[in-house]
Amino acid sequence: MIDKFARKINYMRISVTDRCNLRCEYCMPVVGVPKKAHNEILRLEEIESIVVEGINLGIDKVRLTGGEPLVRKGIMGLISNIAKIKGLKDLSLTTNGVLLKKYAKELKDRGLKRVNVSIDSLNDKTYEKITKGGNLKKVLEGIEVAKKAGLTPLKLNVVLMKGINDHEIGDFIELTRNEEIEVRFIELMPIGQASGWSNEYHLPNTAVKERFKELVPIDLENKSIPAKKYRMPSFKGTVGLINPLSECFCDGCNRIRITADGKIKPCLHSNYELDIRELRKEGLSMREILIMSVSEKPEKHSIADKEFKPITRNMHRIGG
Ligand code: GTP
Ligand code: 5AD
Ligand code: SF4
Repeated sequence: MIDKFARKINYMRISVTDRCNLRCEYCMPVVGVPKKAHNEILRLEEIESIVVEGINLGIDKVRLTGGEPLVRKGIMGLISNIAKIKGLKDLSLTTNGVLLKKYAKELKDRGLKRVNVSIDSLNDKTYEKITKGGNLKKVLEGIEVAKKAGLTPLKLNVVLMKGINDHEIGDFIELTRNEEIEVRFIELMPIGQASGWSNEYHLPNTAVKERFKELVPIDLENKSIPAKKYRMPSFKGTVGLINPLSECFCDGCNRIRITADGKIKPCLHSNYELDIRELRKEGLSMREILIMSVSEKPEKHSIADKEFKPITRNMHRIGG
């Protein structure tokens, strides 16, 4: 699918649940998350049929997200079924890693290619504080099992927050010394509940380059990858900088998002959504709905504008 701005849309991100077994401060409230009724959440067969139609239209990269995708009942069957669809080149999952130790091997056996793991601190106490109770050791063990299972290239996502975890940038970069992993620093974005306070903790990713001047840029031409890649001289792994605010990468945007409650989001930073079930009731085919969503993609987000209003959906209801 090609959008109005000549961008090729080949990447579908699907949030399979808005539930999560952690409560990261910038993503999800600790209490007061209304449980969605089962019938509000897309059935696994619906998700599968959206993917099939997407692949017919040129999607070749699918990522499953959450909330935490591994808490969705039936996720393994869904992965097997999606992995079998002809035309798919990349099937991946973004996870907080809590359940990876238990599931990594099965994920690989079911046909998942790789995982990106969110991990914002390497310090037990800080990790516990950011995630509101998460156990770092479990996640680190999960990462090891995932590597052994071959869910690679493995990427670690670190949302940088000034004064909370930015003193750990060096420790994260150190992880890339002997291993072919990618550590990605993500700029904190004003989304949902983070929008009230994200400014205060926001650290532009230029800080990483300033503090670690030895980082050498690699592959900066690849526009559709949000992470700009760098490497420490002689290190095996890479460092990615995801800079949605300081360096908008919208001109290379290649994605659409499906939320667990059946909405298509043509742009992460817009409240505009297409309601799949409503449009189906009105008689549109899934193919027509997907084409419509791509034609509605805005040219870029407008976070830098004075009038910009952050989106209201919390991140656990979008999937990153
Ligand atoms: P790879 O295919 O491994 O490069 O994955 P990815 O970076 O697309 O997926 P991941 O779920 O690991 O995304 C990392 C984070 O980058 C997301 O959670 C967001 O915070 C951010 N991000 C990804 N896509 C976009 C986008 O289109 N716009 C903005 N502003 N941020 C994005
Ligand atoms: N800003 C930046 N990244 C965020 N994520 C969740 N909320 C935000 C935010 N407000 C990240 C998670 C995870 C990915 C799916 O999105 O840490 O790595
Ligand atoms: Fe859960 Fe991920 Fe949100 Fe943290 S960022 S609360 S792990 S969905």
